[in-house]
Amino acid sequence: MQADDRLIVALDVPNALQGLRLVEKLGDEVSFYKIGLGMLTGGGMALANELTEMGKRVFLDMKLFDIGQTVENAVAGFTQFDLDFLTVHGDPNVVHAAVAGRGTTDMKILAVTVLTSLDRSDLDLALIQAGDIHDIVIERARLAFLAGADGVIASPQEAAMIRALPEATGKLIVTPGVRPAGTNADDQKRVASPAIAINDGADHIVVGRPIWKAEDPLSAVRMIKTELAAI
Ligand code: C5P
Repeated sequence: MQADDRLIVALDVPNALQGLRLVEKLGDEVSFYKIGLGMLTGGGMALANELTEMGKRVFLDMKLFDIGQTVENAVAGFTQFDLDFLTVHGDPNVVHAAVAGRGTTDMKILAVTVLTSLDRSDLDLALIQAGDIHDIVIERARLAFLAGADGVIASPQEAAMIRALPEATGKLIVTPGVRPAGTNADDQKRVASPAIAINDGADHIVVGRPIWKAEDPLSAVRMIKTELAAI
């Protein structure tokens, strides 16, 4: 089966060596990988280089959040790698700084709206204003687009509403929190299936544990791809 780059596999294993083993196991079936914070100290950037040399696309999920100048400098530093996507938190000042740091490179800046592992009670604890979580996600997406984000990260449950925003024209929607039927939600609280996410307007889905924790990661990938191919 040919790779389908709508599927991004999250390499949330502890180090580059284990990441590379999984990549080798999945072979030509997967073309797009996400490297996150958990692997930063385990050779994550070396793995990013290795993946681009193998012809794979790379999404670096750093979820940067800091004062503007620091974000701009950090993003400028990441432009030395051949990255497709880089995440920052979706606050407009952070997005703005990231877009400045990206300069003329074609690395896409994706803004995190609200983590898919959070629900309303978590937002209460973080003192985020009252209101429906979906409305907060949609408004954060809209503001991030206006600040220059190339796309947003959101739960599949919000993809349709974000896709309907006039500000979302030509922008990417990338959804983690995706669970094929019959798999464990783990700590994700706002989940949907791969087909629903794409049908609702997501350009890419990010799937981690249902693949890398599976007894047979390759057949887990094939099941998801079969579901996507049937859309
Ligand atoms: O294992 P699972 O499929 O839940 O992995 C989802 C991945 O997407 C993790 O790497 C997580 O850090 C990331 N992510 C997320 N929610 C966001 C942004 C990124 O779950 N809002």
